[in-house]
Amino acid sequence: MGWMTWNYFGDNINEKEIREMADAMVSSGMLKLGYNHLFIDDGWQGGRDNRNNIIADSKKFPSGIKALADYVHSKGLKLGIYSDAAMLTCAGYTASLNFEEQDANTFASWGIDYLKYDYCGAPDDMETAKTRYKKIADALRKSGHDIALGICEWGERQPWLWGGQAGGQLWRTTADVRDKWKSLKPVKNRSELHGTGAGILDIVDYSWEYASYAGPGHWNDMDMLVVGLYGKKGPSGDLGGVGCTDTEYQSQMSLWSVLNSPLAATNDVRNMSAETKRILLNDEVIAINQDVLGKQAVCKIKNELWSIFVKPLANGDSVIAILNRSGSTQSSKINFAELGLNETYEIKDLWEHKVVGKGKKWNGKVKSHETKMFRLKKI
Ligand code: DGJ
Repeated sequence: MGWMTWNYFGDNINEKEIREMADAMVSSGMLKLGYNHLFIDDGWQGGRDNRNNIIADSKKFPSGIKALADYVHSKGLKLGIYSDAAMLTCAGYTASLNFEEQDANTFASWGIDYLKYDYCGAPDDMETAKTRYKKIADALRKSGHDIALGICEWGERQPWLWGGQAGGQLWRTTADVRDKWKSLKPVKNRSELHGTGAGILDIVDYSWEYASYAGPGHWNDMDMLVVGLYGKKGPSGDLGGVGCTDTEYQSQMSLWSVLNSPLAATNDVRNMSAETKRILLNDEVIAINQDVLGKQAVCKIKNELWSIFVKPLANGDSVIAILNRSGSTQSSKINFAELGLNETYEIKDLWEHKVVGKGKKWNGKVKSHETKMFRLKKI
């Protein structure tokens, strides 16, 4: 969990504002709830020095990354950084191909805790991807500092099959999520997500099937949370988001939580609306995402109107997430037995924070694009 620079700042980042974000992660209560990583994305690099050490852009980061890492650590946060498995990153900055060990050692010397490793400019085939990710993972391990590795090749080479073995702790399942509910154009396959400007629903539809590959230490990453962006263009300019409703943001938080995706907020956490806080800081929903059993929800029902997910929890409870995919409010009548849940339950609504019933079914209304989350406790 954490906050990531990309969707709000793009490559227009600087140390002053990143420090402000670190401060806001603490003062808003995010850190206490588990958002404990600050992830610097693309755009921090300033090339290499005369010994080929990768260096930060001195205009954006006049004090250097080590000083920023020290500051972030002093707040109780961890620091993530970004590179790419080619000569240049997606945004055209210096990347790590052929400098894996040297860069891993540099990151270690700065005290970096996490590396997001992108795949722009690298060959299409799976074997090269495996080799390049293993190379950086080995280099990180050899550096002697504990640095987690996020594989970012957008699900195109089935990283759920090999990402763990290559040494990654998480892998993106899709192209980037934009601040929108769904793509305007129909998406026919995963590769098209790149071109269409994928929204929350598109990402879910191209991620839920890989539940069996995820577990503690190796997660499916559905990309950043867009909660609270409201279509505002930050310094990143236009990344293709038109904005979502709070109901849709609540759905993203719900779905990312039951599907065990990392929760990386990307809004301006210095200025959050009450609704954004209600969604991002819901401790009962976060607890579902962070549950120690680490089982990703399975999709039990999917049709034009509904996607319904069930996730088992460590203490024996289950969570159901009921998404209304349609454009209007729908009535839902669910017998829990249809979902494989055959007991009698106390039903807690995790968005209302209250017990809403007891029994073997739930009947109620779900708004367009809303996701209800119920925690079921056997009684
Ligand atoms: C592509 C990735 O998927 C994004 O999350 C972001 O890291 C950009 N590259 C940065 O250039």
